[in-house]
Amino acid sequence: MIKPVILAGGTGSRLWPKSRAALPKQFLRLTSEHTMLQDTLLRLPKEKVDSALIICNEDHRFLAAEQLRQISSKNDAILLEPVGRNTAPAIAVAAMLASKKAPEQMLLVLAADHLIKDNKAFEEAIDKAYKLAGQDKLVTFGIVPQEAHTGYGYIKSGNKNTHGFVVSEFVEKPDKKTAEAYLSTGKYYWNSGMFMFKTNVYLRELKKHRPDIYAACEKACERTSDDLDFVRLEKTAFEACPDESIDYAVMEKTSDACMVPLDAGWDDVGSWSSLWNTSNKDNADNAVSGDVILEGVSNSYVNAEERMVSVIGLDSVVVVETKDAVMVANRDKVQDIKKVVSRLKSEK
Ligand code: GDD
Ligand code: MG
Repeated sequence: MIKPVILAGGTGSRLWPKSRAALPKQFLRLTSEHTMLQDTLLRLPKEKVDSALIICNEDHRFLAAEQLRQISSKNDAILLEPVGRNTAPAIAVAAMLASKKAPEQMLLVLAADHLIKDNKAFEEAIDKAYKLAGQDKLVTFGIVPQEAHTGYGYIKSGNKNTHGFVVSEFVEKPDKKTAEAYLSTGKYYWNSGMFMFKTNVYLRELKKHRPDIYAACEKACERTSDDLDFVRLEKTAFEACPDESIDYAVMEKTSDACMVPLDAGWDDVGSWSSLWNTSNKDNADNAVSGDVILEGVSNSYVNAEERMVSVIGLDSVVVVETKDAVMVANRDKVQDIKKVVSRLKSEK
């Protein structure tokens, strides 16, 4: 059986003002009647997967527990991080704990905030990845890139094998020029940020390339404590762990990576404009939700939570209204929300 490891510790700051420190995007209902975390669990092929391990920040433990309860996934475990140390350590501690029960446990590592529209295609890709990961490979799922996006990892496909490709190069978040050059070759895929490998294979590669992270995580797992439904790491040891993503720590460095192409309507819902992209739209290409009146508006995303919102005579805008904040942006500039969020943090 495959053990899903759900990474749910991100901050999702580009979806402010809905996504907040106290309620990051993985816990929001953004693309369906379920939250992103719930959809991540609900789309898994039940007969092929074991109970999941959700790993998130201590602060969000009740949110996560309540959201699991709502979809009756009571066998899933919640592993709590005292602080966020990014994905390489999060996956390492999950792998260390899972390997205590099964030393070569197959893991399917998923982000808690992705949208996948075609579950069947996703399941087919999981089947292929399972076969490659069974041959001691670290498998990533590759997406055909649509633009020179600088927020993604890029995978250069090497030799083809029965189930996918050998990864001949993995570059995390290249600059625009490099991303453009990659796109023009037609050989690069985006890294979807989902992975499959056996616990021992990931831990072997982490130990080889980042022994410091490995050692800190090993220490943090030495004395885990269980209370209620939560598993907690040893605080001081985990705090001392370097902050690094799996992409930089392992995927860029390993020579044992393979890639399975994924064409399943994947989106990482990284910004309001990607949410506009994936939403149903009216004749003027507007995506609206809540109590909204538009007049002469096109190509826009308008989301009203508490109050009625009316927009007149604008093109390509994003308007997001919540109880205590309203954000209006040019749709091409929504990446700059990060700047607003960091000002909010420093000025308050
Ligand atoms: N538990 C835990 N702890 N989860 C975390 C932490 C952490 O410290 N940091 C991030 N996560 C979770 C996020 O909630 C998200 O589900 C996932 O891990 C990925 O983190 P992001 O911060 O969203 O990564 P990214 O989008 O910048 O980049 C990754 O995803 C891209 C695709 O969306 C990389 O893997 C890229 O290579 C990839 O292209
Ligand atoms: Mg992301």
